Amino acid sequence: MSKDFSAMEDSNPSDNASIHEVIQAAPQSRRTWLQGAGWLGMMGLLQPLAACSSLTGSVPGRLGFQGIPPGFGDALVVPPGYIAQVLAAWGEPVGIAGQMPAFRSDASNSAEDQAVQLGMHHDGMEFFALNGSSTHGLIALNHEYTDDGLLHPDGFLPMTATKVRKSQNAHGLSVFEVKLKGQQWEMVRPSPYARRVTMQTPFAVTGPAAGHPLLRTEADPQGRTVLGTLNNCASSQTPWGTYLSGEENWMNYFAGGKSINPHHQRWGMREKSLFNWDSQDPRFDASRHPNEANRFGWVVELDPNDPTSTPVKRTALGRAAHEGAWVALTRDQRAVVYSGEDARFEYIYKFVSTGRMQAGGAKANQHLLDEGTLYVARFDANGIGRWLPLVHGQGPLTVANGFADQGEVLIKARQASDLLGATKMDRPEWLTIDKTSRWVYCTLTNNSQRGEPGKPGVDAANPRANNTMGQIIRWLEDGDFDGASFVWNHLLLAGDPANTRAEAQGNIRGDMLGCPDGMGFAPNGLLWIQTDAHATQMYQGEFARIGNNQMLACDTKTGEVRRFLTGPTNCEITGLSFTPDGRNLFINVQHPGETPTDRSDPKKPNQFSNWPDYQTGGRPRSATVVIRKADGGVVGS
Ligand code: FEO
Ligand code: CA
Ligand code: CA
Repeated sequence: MSKDFSAMEDSNPSDNASIHEVIQAAPQSRRTWLQGAGWLGMMGLLQPLAACSSLTGSVPGRLGFQGIPPGFGDALVVPPGYIAQVLAAWGEPVGIAGQMPAFRSDASNSAEDQAVQLGMHHDGMEFFALNGSSTHGLIALNHEYTDDGLLHPDGFLPMTATKVRKSQNAHGLSVFEVKLKGQQWEMVRPSPYARRVTMQTPFAVTGPAAGHPLLRTEADPQGRTVLGTLNNCASSQTPWGTYLSGEENWMNYFAGGKSINPHHQRWGMREKSLFNWDSQDPRFDASRHPNEANRFGWVVELDPNDPTSTPVKRTALGRAAHEGAWVALTRDQRAVVYSGEDARFEYIYKFVSTGRMQAGGAKANQHLLDEGTLYVARFDANGIGRWLPLVHGQGPLTVANGFADQGEVLIKARQASDLLGATKMDRPEWLTIDKTSRWVYCTLTNNSQRGEPGKPGVDAANPRANNTMGQIIRWLEDGDFDGASFVWNHLLLAGDPANTRAEAQGNIRGDMLGCPDGMGFAPNGLLWIQTDAHATQMYQGEFARIGNNQMLACDTKTGEVRRFLTGPTNCEITGLSFTPDGRNLFINVQHPGETPTDRSDPKKPNQFSNWPDYQTGGRPRSATVVIRKADGGVVGS
């Protein structure tokens, strides 16, 4: 999301010391590390690197495409020899039999229509192959938020109960079936897999916080069933075949939160909501239902193969402004889930399951993410990091410090991480895991408040004040993914070398970029990076030469970054999934034409973009795009 939720993202950071102050170098731990990973020390990996390293990624793919220039028009551009096809835009029916209302470009579809059509503002997305196929599968994706100026014929205000219902139905998740026919992908409609999850869909709450008093409400006195998921961002596919997504800026949906208590304040809740649902739906008025907000901020899991399955909120993974969650497996098959929260000066987490993944897919692993240990990351200046356990009764996480039990530690993961002295990061967005080298990568999209008076200063992991451009950090665990410590460095610092401000120049080898967000490895080992610079930045100042948001590939062996795709005006490029053969790349173009104020003028909804329909009087639409090489080869090769 590129909406400028500045106040939200600066959600009352605690007074944690910067990394330079919290690290006491932990000499014993460091010695242990050096003994246990002597080869790493010899390779120089204990020192942060200045740019892409040749020391990681043992078999990366090669950059075989012709790079393209920065984009400045209202068009999606890919390299010569590639074909981009718009597959599934906001408002297309997902394909539920007998319920397939056509999209109306004047936004006159009803709330009920919207509940069976693709939601707005596509973000994290995964291709789930059916029977291992690379030409037939399911797409599961989320719809992060709504631009109500586009969603309703008369725009955002005045808000009505009908508009709130339509907005709620345009949030959530979608599952639809796709097939390659000739050179064209098609949505298969109707399909028995087609599904919408909206703000009315019941979610089961599982894990240590399920049923906790802080999760109980008038409508759900058991604290175990929540209606809906919202503001979902990134996504991933678990090794057992399910879809994971994070609930990110949930605090924007609640009014009346600021004056309730310090807990709500720590999470950036305010007196007024951004979406105005509370005016019609008291569930989102925190002064009346103070626990409802505690029921959001979780990682959600959905089995796309079973349209009757109940989606789940996994409390063992902690509550946060979750961007998403990504699973690695230890050598003995325990699940390690990495996640972060996209908020200024917040944290990176990892969960290690107690149990092991079992054969048998989603059903056989439906409790795997409910029991285990959650940790938060501290990045030390010596290039070593530590995972600090968020376990009730350990260290400062006691009743005396306001944590009644493990459930409360998880619900208040930020406050717990503050007390543990975790490193305050520059807005962690997507993570991805290099299955070959076992390095874990995380985009830190930007943090223009780093170093401001009264805010945390720079540290080794977040080394730039007024960090407008962002960076990509990476680490390698000590031993296995469940390691208590790790070595880390930066893959790159984003920027434009022509910028006059040194801290906005970055150190990219290859094509410039700003604000990395989406990221993932292709089956052939190429690393793909997507950007999300805010609409107010485009074409101006430090971003004047960078242009529209884009997608680039990085060969982690040579360190080269090359521009592959540029999006239409004021969009964000997100969603990133390949077919198993690497020959089809699915991405999302999110919020084309978004206005700097995020509320499109209802009289001129297409004033900045008319992508992808370019229809007179039409509306820009977020859409899934599939990209193929004209010769049928592996994308990027
Ligand atoms: Fe919703 Fe952090 O992107
Ligand atoms: Ca972003
Ligand atoms: Ca994002």
